[in-house]
Amino acid sequence: MGSIRSLVLMQLMILLNVILTVKASTPAVAKPGCRSRCGDVIIPYPFGTGRDCNITAGFFINCNTSFIPHKPFFGGNLEVIDISTDGQLRILSHASYDCFNTSYRNWLFYNFRLFEFSINNNKNKFTAIGCDTYAVVQGSYGQRYTTGCLSLCNNITDVSNGSCSGIGCCQTSIPKDVKSYDISLSSYANHTNVLLENACSYAFVAEIDNYTFSASDLHGFEFQGKQFPITLDWKIGNKSCNEANMDVNNFACKEYSKCVDSENNSGYLCKCLEGYVGNPYLTNGCQDINECESMSPCNGTARCTNLPGTYNCSCPVGYEGDGKKSGTGCSLPIKDQSKTSPLIVALGVGIGFLGLLLGIVLLCWMLRQRQISKLREANFQQNGGILLREQLSKRKGYREDVKVFTAEELEKATSNYNESRILGQGGQGTVYKGILADNQIVAIKKSIIGDPSQVEQFINEIMVLYQINHRNVVKLLGCCLETQVPLLVYEYITNGTLFHHMHNDDATFYLS
Ligand SMILES: *[C@@H]1O[C@H](CO)[C@@H](O)[C@H](O)[C@H]1NC(C)=O
Ligand SMILES: *[C@@H]1O[C@H](CO)[C@@H](O)[C@H](O)[C@H]1NC(C)=O
Ligand SMILES: *[C@@H]1O[C@H](CO)[C@@H](O)[C@H](O)[C@H]1NC(C)=O
Ligand SMILES: *[C@@H]1O[C@H](CO)[C@@H](O)[C@H](O)[C@H]1NC(C)=O
Ligand SMILES: *[C@@H]1O[C@H](CO)[C@@H](O)[C@H](O)[C@H]1NC(C)=O
Ligand SMILES: *[C@@H]1O[C@H](CO)[C@@H](O)[C@H](O)[C@H]1NC(C)=O
Ligand SMILES: *[C@@H]1O[C@H](CO)[C@@H](O)[C@H](O)[C@H]1NC(C)=O
Ligand SMILES: *[C@@H]1O[C@H](CO)[C@@H](O)[C@H](O)[C@H]1NC(C)=O
Ligand SMILES: *[C@@H]1O[C@H](CO)[C@@H](O)[C@H](O)[C@H]1NC(C)=O
Ligand SMILES: *[C@@H]1O[C@H](CO)[C@@H](O)[C@H](O)[C@H]1NC(C)=O
Ligand SMILES: *[C@@H]1O[C@H](CO)[C@@H](O)[C@H](O)[C@H]1NC(C)=O
Repeated sequence: MGSIRSLVLMQLMILLNVILTVKASTPAVAKPGCRSRCGDVIIPYPFGTGRDCNITAGFFINCNTSFIPHKPFFGGNLEVIDISTDGQLRILSHASYDCFNTSYRNWLFYNFRLFEFSINNNKNKFTAIGCDTYAVVQGSYGQRYTTGCLSLCNNITDVSNGSCSGIGCCQTSIPKDVKSYDISLSSYANHTNVLLENACSYAFVAEIDNYTFSASDLHGFEFQGKQFPITLDWKIGNKSCNEANMDVNNFACKEYSKCVDSENNSGYLCKCLEGYVGNPYLTNGCQDINECESMSPCNGTARCTNLPGTYNCSCPVGYEGDGKKSGTGCSLPIKDQSKTSPLIVALGVGIGFLGLLLGIVLLCWMLRQRQISKLREANFQQNGGILLREQLSKRKGYREDVKVFTAEELEKATSNYNESRILGQGGQGTVYKGILADNQIVAIKKSIIGDPSQVEQFINEIMVLYQINHRNVVKLLGCCLETQVPLLVYEYITNGTLFHHMHNDDATFYLS
């Protein structure tokens, strides 16, 4: 029951997820219920134009609808031209001017003050234009600073386009963390020496690549009321990521995003995780990128699968490679000698395995052989082999020595005690016909019982049997003591068994 319920729940969740994914296919920019643009400018959260549309008061955008198209303003009177969620905001600022004619000075010096944000010191520069110009820029909020530049022209013909190095135009950088500026312009001689060619001094903070100096800018009054874009840096709050993270309710970074500390750990930004795109400050803002659709990253033959935050390229069966256009693509395995092919590897492994097997078998065989010879030695001793040897050595000279056969010799002689070699079977044992290596035919008696306690008696019997050399007694040739039960080897008598000889009624020959 439980598993079925959880299965249904899972399917519901998948369905819900699908619905949510479909719903969110147009990524949200602003908070729900808030306007996402003002005129031509998109207003992404944390910025907002309504009461609860901005994250804090500092992110409020005043969308002035009396302009057509509508114009967004920030921090009072700064016109916003672009907001990006990666921490930058572009505003327009006016050029300050200081103009003269023979009797009159007309000037306007601009200043502005930011509360939470700062002027990006890499993207903006302070520029002054004029041939009798002394320009100062200073700020007292955030970083305190005073800087400026001087531009003079001895002869207007010295001025060259594009060069802001002190003749007609000068430039200077702005320090980091600047939150305000005040511009002031002055001259050495009220432009009296250059009044015909250059009546005005101008100064402004602007994006570096937005303004290129032209000698013609020295003439006329075009810069009065002219605006230049400035890039500002924004961030959330004045805490570091680690600190802000503690305050879950006010933490600005939502799911599938990460927190990035701003430069001096006061304030942070949020960024969507790799493979996600959207607004990291909104719930469901960061959306999975469908790489398969947006960038077709897989090599033609590979199948592309979009995965959360990434994608997977899988090559057709039989091909190898990562399937990516930027990677190894898909290719048929190259049968190259420098590269060990799977077949060779398999072959090598096979051969190695076979060798190992052979080794093991050999080892087992050797161990078995050792075991057998040990067993034979033990049997030999148990069956009185040593005693027999002693006896034999004492009675040397009687007859040719009793032969002590090895177990192997007798095995060979009887074709491994083959049934076809059985001459007779009785209560005491079995008699086999054997052919020795020298082609001598023998009878081999294998006793059934081998009684260890009667070893001495047995050996004595052998000795007795062995000393007898009578026509009517089967001659003992030798014995084998290596087997579990001792084996006796007799001379072979043709024409039936002894029983046959003894009980044959119509005996054709006589036994004395
Ligand atoms: C948004 O900005 C306005 C104006 O500064 C402010 O009154 C309001 O409280 C801000 N909203 C939030 C949620 O801070
Ligand atoms: C919009 O701009 C006009 C002209 O600059 C100004 O008079 C008006 O007060 C502004 N409206 C708002 C709501 O800021
Ligand atoms: C100087 O400028 C003022 C204001 O623009 C103007 O009224 C005046 O006539 C000008 N004087 C001369 C000599 O051009
Ligand atoms: C960065 O740190 C400096 C001092 O280290 C401080 O004066 C400045 O205000 C900080 N900048 C911001 C934007 O908080
Ligand atoms: C400015 O330079 C040009 C040529 O370089 C020269 O003809 C002219 O007399 C110079 N004017 C002054 C005021 O020195
Ligand atoms: C400087 O550029 C202006 C146009 O921007 C052009 O009319 C003028 O001839 C140029 N002057 C020189 C010295 O290249
Ligand atoms: C520049 O003009 C001001 C008045 O606008 C005057 O007080 C000052 O003496 C003049 N300086 C020179 C060097 O002409
Ligand atoms: C400078 O910025 C203004 C305002 O965004 C724009 O209209 C202008 O085309 C820009 N000029 C250059 C050279 O980028
Ligand atoms: C951080 O911000 C809070 C609220 O915006 C403010 O009260 C506090 O003074 C700020 N702290 C610093 C060190 O700037
Ligand atoms: C990606 O594809 C490869 C085959 O190309 C497969 O082995 C792997 O499991 C796949 N990974 C995922 C997360 O689906
Ligand atoms: C796919 O990969 C193969 C081998 O790397 C390459 O030859 C082929 O041009 C690739 N095709 C595409 C469409 O990238």
